[in-house]
Amino acid sequence: MASIAAITRALLTKNVINTGRIATSSNTSFIKFYSTAPEYENIKIDIVGAKKNVGLIQLNRPKALNALCNALFKELGKAVKNFNADDKIAAIIITGNKKAFAAGGDIKEMQNNTYSSITKANVLQVWDNLLNCGKPIIAAVNGFALGGGCELAMLCDIIYAGEKAKFGQPEINIGTIPGNGGTQRLPRYVGKSKAMEIVLTGNFIDAHEAEKMGLVSRVFPVEKLLEETIKLAERIGTQSPLIVKMAKQSVNQAYETTLKSGLQYEKSIFYGTFATEDRKEGMTAFVEKRAQETFKNN
Ligand code: CAA
Repeated sequence: MASIAAITRALLTKNVINTGRIATSSNTSFIKFYSTAPEYENIKIDIVGAKKNVGLIQLNRPKALNALCNALFKELGKAVKNFNADDKIAAIIITGNKKAFAAGGDIKEMQNNTYSSITKANVLQVWDNLLNCGKPIIAAVNGFALGGGCELAMLCDIIYAGEKAKFGQPEINIGTIPGNGGTQRLPRYVGKSKAMEIVLTGNFIDAHEAEKMGLVSRVFPVEKLLEETIKLAERIGTQSPLIVKMAKQSVNQAYETTLKSGLQYEKSIFYGTFATEDRKEGMTAFVEKRAQETFKNN
């Protein structure tokens, strides 16, 4: 918590947060990472970036290494949904603390579940809010990203990691298997042999290994991770939100279909960009050798 506040303060000395619920004075020279309303007990949210267009969500159950209890799932789903609906937000970051992004589903909460109770509750459905989010979601992973924590990171669009991050699917150690993408997304990202090894042994992999495998796109020193992730979100925030959404949809389609129908899908989205003002302005500015006007999301 404190470290995130410190990083954010150092990064964005001139900014002030105004989430619409709690506003700081426009003269203050810091950003405080805080939960905007009592509705969140297991996460904290903030709005950061020079243009205040990056939604930041910190998983906040440090004593339980951010184990993903049902209440946290629900809050996370709600926060993502709200940021997705907020036109001022260009991208969303999900992070944890230095020790843990998330150490998995909450084993204590799951311990006494039965087949019937877990099926009826269908808690994993909450993740749909993340899947349905049109805006890019970036995971900034320090510490453990295990089980459901690794799966949560994989559900995001981009993973940046701190150099001490550890990824794994250790469900096998507790007599179960990954339940939210560990056996499906992981092989698509790192290949069958590596995914099998990770899932069948429960062994952890470190950040550099994860980067080599293609699970993580970049690794940073622990203290720099959030700063670099915010920079990435801000860079994406300079693009047309509409085209970003179309590009995200198209890349995600690669994981859902055959190459042939994926290419068809891509082509229709590409053609679709020609119906937008932002595509027209982007190309016209290039041809006229002038700076682009701000994209209109149109
Ligand atoms: N669920 C509930 N509590 C957890 C937890 C989890 N997944 N992971 C850690 N905790 C709790 C511990 O019980 C402990 O609580 P107490 O202080 O009350 O005892 C606290 O967090 C600190 O944990 P440790 O003392 O174990 O910390 P450590 O540094 O010695 O070890 C660790 C860290 C290697 C991550 C170890 O905590 C661990 O192995 N955790 C479980 C990882 C795991 O198996 N994850 C998969 C869960 S199942 C799943 O994810 C399925 C799904 O969602 C679909």
